[in-house]
Amino acid sequence: MLIKWHKIAEDISELTTLTEIEIANKKICVAIHNEVLFACAAKCPHASGVMANGFIDALGNIVCPLHRYKFNLKNGLNVSGEGYFLKTYPIEHRKEGIFVGFNQNNFL
Ligand code: FES
Repeated sequence: MLIKWHKIAEDISELTTLTEIEIANKKICVAIHNEVLFACAAKCPHASGVMANGFIDALGNIVCPLHRYKFNLKNGLNVSGEGYFLKTYPIEHRKEGIFVGFNQNNFL
């Protein structure tokens, strides 16, 4: 798998708990939970709720603001059981900044 990395911020301090970011013509949602970074699709796979307008529950799941379906931020699993899947992206905090990776095969 060929991953292309895109810089989204210089530092974690530029991000809030849930931040919608547009990078390389793609909108994503960046989440911070217990100082760990996650990245997922900006829109809910159920009916396009804006994930950055939701919240993160005590277990670290992202909760969609529209119908409260919950997704594991690590792997996108729909932990509330409705059978959807939220796309997630690799994210890395490096000394040059924060980078999100897109699979080139899906990206092009
Ligand atoms: S749009 Fe997200 S749960 Fe329905």
